[in-house]
Amino acid sequence: MSDYNALIAVAKQARENAHANFSNFKVGAALRSASGKIFGGCNVENATYGLTVCAERIAIFKAISEGERRFDAIAVVTDTDVLTPPCGACRQLIWEFCGDVPVVMANLKGAIEVLRMRELFPKPFDSSNL
Ligand code: THU
Repeated sequence: MSDYNALIAVAKQARENAHANFSNFKVGAALRSASGKIFGGCNVENATYGLTVCAERIAIFKAISEGERRFDAIAVVTDTDVLTPPCGACRQLIWEFCGDVPVVMANLKGAIEVLRMRELFPKPFDSSNL
């Protein structure tokens, strides 16, 4: 687990910036590129609710917009006993941009669980279906 420590630390830090004033559910994410750079993200809510963007997608879009294209792990951190997996929309984008990466789920008490995207998203629709 130790090589996920930096990733989890960035996700925890990003979570502090969560704009979750409607749900009060703060989420932090961190995405590591193949070159070792880590991009943090937090959920950003707004009054329409539906335009909310999850922490994972913010991290992905930050990395993509900085020119990164290959990734090797993503972390999601919440303050819950039951660790938080990415939502369905995020699973689609994690799959398309990152492939079968490990998804590191962690909480503020130090609990960690790692599942690969293949396990979380077993029959994806992607460009290979087009
Ligand atoms: N949320 C995330 O940011 N990532 C997840 O994986 C699950 C859900 C956010 C969206 C919304 O701001 C709040 O958590 C409650 O759904």
